[in-house]
Amino acid sequence: MSKLTILEFPDSRLRRVAEPVTAVTEIEQQLARDMLETMYAARGIGLAAIQVNRPVRLLVLDVSDTRDQPMVFFNPEIVDRRGSQTCEEGCLSVPGEYAQVTRAEEIRVRALDLDGEPFEIEADGLLAVCIQHEIDHLDGKVFVDYLSPLKRRVIEKRLKKQQKLREAV
Ligand code: NI
Repeated sequence: MSKLTILEFPDSRLRRVAEPVTAVTEIEQQLARDMLETMYAARGIGLAAIQVNRPVRLLVLDVSDTRDQPMVFFNPEIVDRRGSQTCEEGCLSVPGEYAQVTRAEEIRVRALDLDGEPFEIEADGLLAVCIQHEIDHLDGKVFVDYLSPLKRRVIEKRLKKQQKLREAV
């Protein structure tokens, strides 16, 4: 397994729309495992392939407290959504920034698992938030897009400054 580099906002590569996976082969399975390792190492609860510069429709997550319930979704699709909830969100591609985002409260998701088998789940609470957040990534969207242009600019400035400082070291 190997840890992957996570792209950071406002990197334009985060704006690409990811392509569906045509088959789940060993290559896709390895990518999913590497993404899980990367996500756990970064203490995140979800990661989309686009965030590690692979523009395919794949996301991994683990919202458990025990950090031992990995989930893998190839070609995830929300087939039903109900209600709304507002939660504070963060993102491994927007380090140190958090903001309130309103999303559906309950969703029904269809996807392929690590073996390429189709499955459907009902999700609510944090799991529903996380899946919607990660699917946004696959469509080139970042959670800061839900904020006002002013707030987004402040975050962008702050991150660019940090990125510059890091490059200078
Ligand atoms: Ni994210």
